[in-house]
Amino acid sequence: MASKPKILVTKLLFSAARAVLDKTGEIDYWAGPEAIPRAELLKRVADKDALVCLLNDKIDAELLAAGPQLRIVATVSVGYDNIDVPACTARKVIATNTPGVLDDTTADLAWALMLAIARRLVEGDAWVRSGNWRGFSMDHLLGADVYGKTLGIIGFGRIGRCVAKRGLGFGMRVLYSGSKRAPVDVEKELNAEFVEQDRLFNESDFVSLHVPLNPQTRHLISKENLEKMKRTAFLINTSRGPVVDEEALAEALENKIIAGAALDVFEHEPKINPKLTARRDAILAPHIGSATVETRTRMMVLAAQNVAAFFDGRTPPNALNKDALGLK
Ligand code: GLV
Repeated sequence: MASKPKILVTKLLFSAARAVLDKTGEIDYWAGPEAIPRAELLKRVADKDALVCLLNDKIDAELLAAGPQLRIVATVSVGYDNIDVPACTARKVIATNTPGVLDDTTADLAWALMLAIARRLVEGDAWVRSGNWRGFSMDHLLGADVYGKTLGIIGFGRIGRCVAKRGLGFGMRVLYSGSKRAPVDVEKELNAEFVEQDRLFNESDFVSLHVPLNPQTRHLISKENLEKMKRTAFLINTSRGPVVDEEALAEALENKIIAGAALDVFEHEPKINPKLTARRDAILAPHIGSATVETRTRMMVLAAQNVAAFFDGRTPPNALNKDALGLK
C-alpha cells in the first residue's frame, strides 16, 4: 500500500493503544460520548482500510459493503458475536478479537456478583443510605453462604476456569459443563468435575455462565432449565445477555423458582427488562466484566497490535478467520 492505511476507530482509545495505531496509519476517531450511530459508521467506513470497533458495533454484510476497502476489522472484545465472521471471510477481510487479556478481570466480576447477590450487599447499601438503619439486628438482610457450596460453571474456557480457580479459596465443589471436557490435569488442579448440564442445574448453588453467544447458547437459560435449578440457587451472568431468556428469568424470580440473579449483560442492552429492574433479588451491572484500567488498556493495545501486525505484513495474532483465509 503506497499511502498510509486509513483506520476508523469507533471509540477514543487510551494513549498506549493510540501510540500503536499512530505509527500504523492515519486514524479517524469517533470521539462522541455515545456509541457511533450506525449511519455515521456506514459513512465513515467508506474510505477505510481498517476498522477498530466495539462489541456494540454490528459488523455485517451491509457494513462490509459500505467499506469496500476494508482489509481488517478488530473488535476490542473477546466476544465477537457482533461480527459476521463468514461475511468477513467472503470479502477477504480479517476479523480479530482480544482473547486472553481479560480472563481474571471478568472472573473477578463474576465473583463480585456472586458474593453481592448471596450476601445482599446492594440491598444493604441502599438500606444504610436510606437512613432507615437502626443498628445491628440478628435477623436483618440474611443471605446465603458462599463458602463450601457448589459452584456450577457453564462454559469451561479461559474465563470459566479462572472462576473455578477462585472457588478453591472458598472451599467450593466445582461442577462444569460445556461442549468438551477439559484435560484431566486441569480438572485436578481446579478440583472441577465434568457433568451433564442437567446435573449441574440440579446440584449447583451458584450457576455462572461463561459461554460465547451463538445459536446453541441463545436462551440456554430457559424456563425449562431454570426449573431444574434449586430454589435456593443463584444465577450469575457475565457472558452475553441473550444467553438468558429474561422473560423466563423474571418469571422464575417472581415465582421463587430460584433465589436470585446477578447480571452484567442483558438481552437488549442498554434497554433493561422492567420486570428485572423492579426486583430486589436481582443485581444489575452495566456490562463491566472487563472494566478495569489495566484490562481495558490491554484489550485496546491488543486490538491495535492486530491491526499493526496486518499492515506490517504479518498474520494478526488473534485472527478469527485465519484458517478460512488460508493464512499462516
Ligand atoms: C466483553 O463483553 C467482551 O467480550 O470482551
